[in-house]
Amino acid sequence: MKANLVLLPGDGIGPEITQQAASVLEAVAKRFGHEFEFRSHLIGGIAIDSTGEPLPAATISACKDADAILLGAVGGPKWDDPSAKTRPEAGLLQIRKELGLFANLRPIRLFDELVDASPLKREIIEGTDILFLRELTGGIYFGESGRSGEGSSESAYQSMVYSVPEVERIVRLAAQAAKGRQNRLTSVDKANVLEPSRLWRQVAARVMAEEFPDVQYDVVLVDSMAMHLINRPRDFDVVVTSNMFGDILTDEASMLPGSLGMLPSASLGSDGPGLYEPIHGSAPDIAGQDIANPLATILAAAMLLRHSLSLNEEAEAIESAVSQVLADGLRTADIARGSESLGTQAMGQAVIERLSN
Ligand code: NAD
Ligand code: IPM
Ligand code: MN
Repeated sequence: MKANLVLLPGDGIGPEITQQAASVLEAVAKRFGHEFEFRSHLIGGIAIDSTGEPLPAATISACKDADAILLGAVGGPKWDDPSAKTRPEAGLLQIRKELGLFANLRPIRLFDELVDASPLKREIIEGTDILFLRELTGGIYFGESGRSGEGSSESAYQSMVYSVPEVERIVRLAAQAAKGRQNRLTSVDKANVLEPSRLWRQVAARVMAEEFPDVQYDVVLVDSMAMHLINRPRDFDVVVTSNMFGDILTDEASMLPGSLGMLPSASLGSDGPGLYEPIHGSAPDIAGQDIANPLATILAAAMLLRHSLSLNEEAEAIESAVSQVLADGLRTADIARGSESLGTQAMGQAVIERLSN
């Protein structure tokens, strides 16, 4: 197979981890006889520095023409001034919107070898396997915002809007995913306070009753979910959330496998290329030191092979190589819990050495 892949390394640790994931993809192509063409484009702070915009037109058109996109991360203290004209993060939101990537799949998979790397107790987390479906192109992230007044009379607002079709499509996708897993779906909302959550709850209930009567379905309020997630994570199978709740809950959920550096994600639309990225950010505190964990991005590359190129065997080859690396005791600093660790490049290389065909 020939595939045209766009790399968006971005900022902070973005370039280091994207490079490792791209090398793993290259190794997969070589071993399985595929031809992957890689083109890198600008997004985020680095794009602001060289073009004045976080998502230049050339990046948008390259992404639209690609078979799939692999992104590192955007953002950093250099571009954090609250009064700046634009922000790196705006580029990421815009590319999600431009490509219609309304569904963000965030699997919370525990590697057996890492159970003791988690700050949580083994008896609580063992056996956890959750798939989050985070709505990605609506809600408060894309609501109207603004400011008025000055000085101590200044105020700011950002509205949260969801429409019926936006809720229907993400709930449908989540329910379909549940059917292929443990057949259980949990919808998270804040319907006791927020109007868009009440719409969400009504639409979700209707879709489930009409189209998925056989899927076990329940509803949990987001504050309560934050607690259940670390108290009884095994009870959840597929979890569907609005944009912001999914953002927050999945960073929390990263403590189940033990590190943000282990969690990949796939952002998908109804057609067109998917975008694959780790769920973590640009980690400015460790950028440029060759210590970031590249496994989240490498696992995102596996998701890319599976979801955008239908290369299931190749995706599994990456995932088993990652398991093997962990079984062999190799750890980056974030999952080493104080014992010996290896760097970003060495970890990428270790995965490549364990790829089989
Ligand atoms: P972060 O996810 O970048 O980092 C949080 C903590 O986790 C840091 O201590 C970091 O060192 C650690 N960490 C993250 N990824 C790691 C990895 N692969 N290996 C080892 N340790 C890792 O979150 P933050 O510090 O709150 O945000 C930094 C910047 O990243 C901000 O500008 C934010 O907007 C941006 N951000 C971008 C994305 C994205 O591009 N998708 C996601 C989240 C945050
Ligand atoms: C993520 C990030 C982004 C988000 C930011 C950087 C825009 O936190 O991908 O989880 O909030 O969606
Ligand atoms: Mn986030």
